[in-house]
Amino acid sequence: MSNLRFVLASNNKGKLKEMREILAELGIEVMSQKEAGIASEPEEDGTTFEENAIIKARAAMEASGLPAIADDSGIAVDALNGEPGIYSARYGDCGSDEERVEYLLKNMENEEHRAAKFVSSIAVAFPNGDVLTTLGECHGTLTYAPIGENGFGYDPIFYMEQFGRTLAQVSAEEKNSVSHRGRALRAMKEKLTEYFKENTIC
Ligand code: IMP
Repeated sequence: MSNLRFVLASNNKGKLKEMREILAELGIEVMSQKEAGIASEPEEDGTTFEENAIIKARAAMEASGLPAIADDSGIAVDALNGEPGIYSARYGDCGSDEERVEYLLKNMENEEHRAAKFVSSIAVAFPNGDVLTTLGECHGTLTYAPIGENGFGYDPIFYMEQFGRTLAQVSAEEKNSVSHRGRALRAMKEKLTEYFKENTIC
């Protein structure tokens, strides 16, 4: 199982670092799409986080001929019936994280019920056609204004009771320990461990 190489269906440096750290524990080396010499950008036309993660992982696997790993994530707000959900990255057609945060706060202006969750689905696609998926969630409440400088995306308005702060006010280690992606990745590590007991991948 050692020296196995996966392609990450993304060039996002933050995701690459997180995936490298966790999958290195299984002897898996993770390469970015750039390092693998591919530029796969499939249409993410799934209706769930899981479907979109599978679309991205399959496309990178087919382009590279190597096992590929992908994640699809976003924020789902109770009072907005789960929106923006899978449309989190393009919410309100806004061009930046700051604008998306403002747009979400505007849509929540007169709303007192502020429960929300981050969701991440991770998919691994193997050249033999096998696909593994996991899901991770992280629950919190929306603030009325952005607070904090760390993290990215909707972190400055995502308050977590256990920290007494937003995700933009905690360290990367604290965030990884509770985050949707951290949970989904650790679950994938468990699934891969089981998978490798029954399958030989070269
Ligand atoms: P993607 O999975 O990289 O396409 O991200 C989808 C959207 O969800 C982006 O707009 C991100 O800003 C947002 N998002 C995903 N994960 C997080 C997170 O951990 N914190 C804040 N925003 C996130």
